[in-house]
Amino acid sequence: MTSRTIGNVLMNGASTDPLSASVSIFDVGFQRGYGCFEAMRSYEGHVFRLDAHLARLERSADHLRIQLVSRDLLSEWCTEVATGGDGVLRVYVTGGMDASAPGIDNLTAVYLEALPDISTTVRLDLLEAPWHADGRVSELTGAKTLSYGPNLAATIEAKSKGFDDAVLFGSSGTVLEGPTFSIGWVVDGAVCTPGLDSQILASITREATIEAAEEIGLTVSIDRYPIKALLEADEVFLMSTVREVMPVTAVGSVEFLPGPVTVKLHSAFQRLVARDAV
Ligand SMILES: Cc1ncc(COP(=O)(O)O)c(C=O)c1O
Repeated sequence: MTSRTIGNVLMNGASTDPLSASVSIFDVGFQRGYGCFEAMRSYEGHVFRLDAHLARLERSADHLRIQLVSRDLLSEWCTEVATGGDGVLRVYVTGGMDASAPGIDNLTAVYLEALPDISTTVRLDLLEAPWHADGRVSELTGAKTLSYGPNLAATIEAKSKGFDDAVLFGSSGTVLEGPTFSIGWVVDGAVCTPGLDSQILASITREATIEAAEEIGLTVSIDRYPIKALLEADEVFLMSTVREVMPVTAVGSVEFLPGPVTVKLHSAFQRLVARDAV
């Protein structure tokens, strides 16, 4: 991973060689996955929706009762790191050294990572996620915490079956999201996507895509959908900071063609990105 880093890592604001950037084994971020993170896109040095990402980081930290440094300082660190150019800007906040008082001696690491090789389409395995909140609310619901083990395991399971990734449904049979992306589909020209009441992550890309869809005159339906709705769609696409809006060409054994509405949506999303950078 280190070799993918562009420039130095800011560790609590101090510029640090990526090879020496490390976290203590006594930090609860490492020991318990107690901490939070963000992944943003830097487009030629401009961070897309920086404020929205930092607001989500603050909400995550609030859930965890971790005291963050100020929004201004975080913003300054992100802007400094983004000058490295195009890439994924990562912010990690650990819980710190005292499990009973999270946020003490904790670490905020900010760095830019080279974009991964991104294919143009993706095939998804349809997996049940009994661990997902799926509408239920608990202390950490909605927080983007460091505990991404179940998400990663779902991706690994899907890959072991020859897919590129997974799309998750809850025990209630409701379509949720991917392990690291939101999901949407098209029915008779209208865009459908699961609602935040399923306690999926409040994805910044999903929000921007809804805006983009409405700008180009598409109807957007946000609801709790059964699996059947996804499988019977005309087009399926995923949304994420890293992959933007990308056509899905299979969900389990059901194949989809990359469709015209997804192409239009991606262009409209890219226009939003360009406008944001001005
Ligand atoms: C579970 C989950 N859903 C959706 C997303 C997409 O969120 P965003 O558009 O903010 O990248 C992510 C991103 O990491 C995620 O982890």
